[in-house]
Amino acid sequence: MRKTMKAFLLTALFAMLAIVAAACGGGTGDKQSAKPASGQPETKAEAPAGGDQKVLKVGTDAAYPPFEKQGPDGKPTGFDMDVIQAIADANGWKLQIEHAGWDPLFEDIDKGKRDIGISAITINDKRKQKYDFSDPYFDAYQLIMVPESSKVTKAADLKDLRVGVQSATTGAALAEKVLGKGNPNIRGFADTPSAVEELYAKRVDAVVADNGVLTDYLKTSGKKGFKVIKDPGVEPEKYGIMVKKGNKELLDGINKGLKTIQDNGKYKEIFDKYFGQK
Ligand code: ARG
Repeated sequence: MRKTMKAFLLTALFAMLAIVAAACGGGTGDKQSAKPASGQPETKAEAPAGGDQKVLKVGTDAAYPPFEKQGPDGKPTGFDMDVIQAIADANGWKLQIEHAGWDPLFEDIDKGKRDIGISAITINDKRKQKYDFSDPYFDAYQLIMVPESSKVTKAADLKDLRVGVQSATTGAALAEKVLGKGNPNIRGFADTPSAVEELYAKRVDAVVADNGVLTDYLKTSGKKGFKVIKDPGVEPEKYGIMVKKGNKELLDGINKGLKTIQDNGKYKEIFDKYFGQK
């Protein structure tokens, strides 16, 4: 009897050891199982950066839906991200897309910290002095968002009102044109959602920003009691993809890729995904 008991205990001990060993082994094995079991080389997509393929650093201000917003994992998603990815695919490029913020994005491109800026950026003469832009890839214009009861019907009506804008945007430039630069009634914010929140809270009387974004707020925010005004007298805009001044090689590649996706229907597919009639 004692012998059997001893044997049983020993067996049980071994069994437990085996389980513990398996559990430990399983732990490390899990990590390794990401690699192909056959020992064949990892696929290119998983290959570490610095191989034969350069990773281009793309920056955006991911707070401008539907052009860019941060996904649940913090990674930027949106129309612009799909466009730049399609351009990269057409060229066989690999991208690292990150949220940078609006002002930092311009600095980063200028300093060479990032290669590409895509962020619903309007091409204008002032910016063209310091940066290079791709061919235009999107048509836009400014809208004025106001409460439904507002009497504003054109940009000039903003003159004596409090106007929320994202600083250093073309919307801010329009507000400055009407109210005068430095006018304290112009409330500038680092991002557009903050300006819109200010309008919801009635701390500003209007917000000026791009049509795609304000229209999206009206459609998706669930906030009632607001409308957008278009002043046909305000000059239309075009978005471009921004690179460091003089980076001709990269710019040529971007333009070539853009042309490819415009010709092969990929651009239209992306456009319809975000702006098609639903
Ligand atoms: N199109 C406007 C501009 O270039 C606003 C762009 C803002 N973009 C953004 N991702 N916040 O000034």
